[in-house]
Amino acid sequence: MKKITDTIFYVGVNDRVTHLFERLWSLHRGVSYNSYVIADEKVAVVDTVEVAYASAFMQNIEKAAGGRPVDYLIVNHMEPDHSGSIAALRQRYPQMQIVGNAKTLQMIKGYYGICENLLEVSDGSTLSLGSETLTFYLAPMVHWPETMVTYGSVAKILFSGDAFGCFGALDGGVTDEELAFEDYYDEMVRYYACIVGKYGAPVQKALQRLAPLPIEIIAATHGPVWKRSIGKVVKVYDELSRYAAQRGAVVAYGSMYGNTAGLCEEIACRLREKGVEKIKIYDLSSADISEVLRDIFLYRGLVIASPTYNNELFPPVRELLEKISERTVKGRLFGFAGSYTWASAALKRFAEKAEKCGWETLPCSIEMKQSSLSVTDEQIDAFATAFSETL
Ligand code: FEO
Repeated sequence: MKKITDTIFYVGVNDRVTHLFERLWSLHRGVSYNSYVIADEKVAVVDTVEVAYASAFMQNIEKAAGGRPVDYLIVNHMEPDHSGSIAALRQRYPQMQIVGNAKTLQMIKGYYGICENLLEVSDGSTLSLGSETLTFYLAPMVHWPETMVTYGSVAKILFSGDAFGCFGALDGGVTDEELAFEDYYDEMVRYYACIVGKYGAPVQKALQRLAPLPIEIIAATHGPVWKRSIGKVVKVYDELSRYAAQRGAVVAYGSMYGNTAGLCEEIACRLREKGVEKIKIYDLSSADISEVLRDIFLYRGLVIASPTYNNELFPPVRELLEKISERTVKGRLFGFAGSYTWASAALKRFAEKAEKCGWETLPCSIEMKQSSLSVTDEQIDAFATAFSETL
């Protein structure tokens, strides 16, 4: 439990045990599930935590509320990492009213069978807690359709749900007065790319909607509470949701016996010689896909290479392309290299996918038959020159 203002307390928890967030995305430094108590004339809790941490969470609430009962639970987002302790909280405070929009309340019934003491709010609704008044803004698809954010106009605090969140447990503090934004930057981009990356347009819409509000504290559901870094955090989310990119290249390949890998090492060296300074190389059979996606959200260039496998792309390459297209990543330059032993297919499959997704592709590509003996230095040089000049 930690004081944020005189009446607002952090009551969230750190999870340093879970290895895969959503059973998909690696957690290198854990994750926090953030929740807040507003101890006004009425006591409100904003969001809950993953159910495994309900006991510690409940103790934090008791302390923050000074033993008073909870009057309201504000539910900004129903994904179970935040809604998982609703039933336990309800059991402890049976008179508590659960506040959510129509979609939220439907999900509360569906997930937890709770049908009573529900208070439905809509976009722009307000709720007075005494001194503080909360206003609710619907923010659909940031990250689920029921998502909303809650603004407290006295504390100028935005309870932002997943927006402005990041991976990484909170190491010995809660706010960015104690924790450096820079220490969480990579984890913020990785979190955005993996979790929110598909929803760039709704994030942009929400940013524009919230821009007129005076905000001094952003209290997201994951990561530090932002006070002094608000400008930086909003800039990161704005850039990522516009798919803005730096000059640089991700070189990602599949390689069964090292030939395609060797080709990619050569391409990367040439790219650097041609002035591409930021280059990240990933072997997709062993890379952490969340890191690959993080860097694809950061850099404009993407060189992808694949062997032909069962007349298709090598499976990890195909999976990466799916993840990119699911996230409707825009404004990237794709350069392709394909390899085969007896029947060429990889380059054709790359071209089909690029055309379907409307990706900008380099007119030249490289095709390798069997080994690097079939590829000339001039071909690699021409590819790297064209890539660097177009980047
Ligand atoms: Fe952290 Fe979409 O839940």
